[in-house]
Amino acid sequence: MKFQGSHILSVSQFDRDAVTRILDVAKRMIPYASRQKQCHVLQGAILNNLFFEPSTRTRVSFGTAFQLLGGFVHETVGQESSSLTKGESLVDTARVISGYADIIAMRHPTMHSVAEFASGSSVPVINGGDGANEHPTQALLDLFTIDAEMSRFGQGIDNLNICLMGDLKHGRTVHSLSKLLSLYDNVHLTLVSPKELQMPDHVVSILDDAGHKVTITDTMAGNLKSDVLYQTRIQEERFSSKAEADLYRGHFSLNKAVYEQHCKDNTVIMHPLPRDSRPEANELSVDLDDNVNLAIFRQAQNGVLVRMALFALALGVEDKLSQYERDVTWYSNKAK
Ligand code: CP
Repeated sequence: MKFQGSHILSVSQFDRDAVTRILDVAKRMIPYASRQKQCHVLQGAILNNLFFEPSTRTRVSFGTAFQLLGGFVHETVGQESSSLTKGESLVDTARVISGYADIIAMRHPTMHSVAEFASGSSVPVINGGDGANEHPTQALLDLFTIDAEMSRFGQGIDNLNICLMGDLKHGRTVHSLSKLLSLYDNVHLTLVSPKELQMPDHVVSILDDAGHKVTITDTMAGNLKSDVLYQTRIQEERFSSKAEADLYRGHFSLNKAVYEQHCKDNTVIMHPLPRDSRPEANELSVDLDDNVNLAIFRQAQNGVLVRMALFALALGVEDKLSQYERDVTWYSNKAK
């Protein structure tokens, strides 16, 4: 696929070669993200980071990624601080904002809203999450993480057993990740959720069409002996009320005792974060924080690499990185 000048709206736009290319460019970003070198290939370029729904990791790592490549970041946080509240359309907003920037990252609570916005934009738009629809950059960083974690055991992504657990109905990260996994060979997906929060049929169909084995269940016992266990949060913001979300909280809490009883010795634990650490949910207990297979913070860190790669590819500078490289002049414990 042609990346330069393209919007990144859905994982459906990628084939396996495109994903491999993104992950390869992401690996080339490690020296810059780990402060062994700095790179100013995007010096003078402007990112507009439009976040109309709460975010910590996606928003900050988009900004960090752009700045690590030398660019400037302008932020808009919350619909209440934009003229969308005055009835301005997403398309008009895009026409205006894209005149102020070289690239835009956007999160919005409504499904397909980022694509609607992109239709009015003259610069590439990257989807940072659109309602319960998709979160393509999260899926790419998840795939990067699965690849990196499984390389410790000499395995790639093909032939893995992967368990997705939690709110699979509303969790856009598991929708996007499942679609990306459909590009690989012979993956066994075990989908653990309450019956009411099962993976949407259209996503299961994609996995079926890829020839993957898919197991759908609402019990943990006997179903967590996977290579990767990807836990997700009950997406309270997608329910009609907190009381409705509360019905499902705490059903699939993953803690040390559950891990030791039901998982393999080396099952890699992933979670897109934020994890809900309130006692009634405690979906991923801190008593697993010392487990070497808990990849959640490495996963969040990998988001910077993947987003740097997407910026470089969309702005056509992925082959110019070393030309714009220089030494780091400050003390950094990251470079150790
Ligand atoms: N994983 C993720 O999207 O986190 P944020 O909501 O904090 O961006």
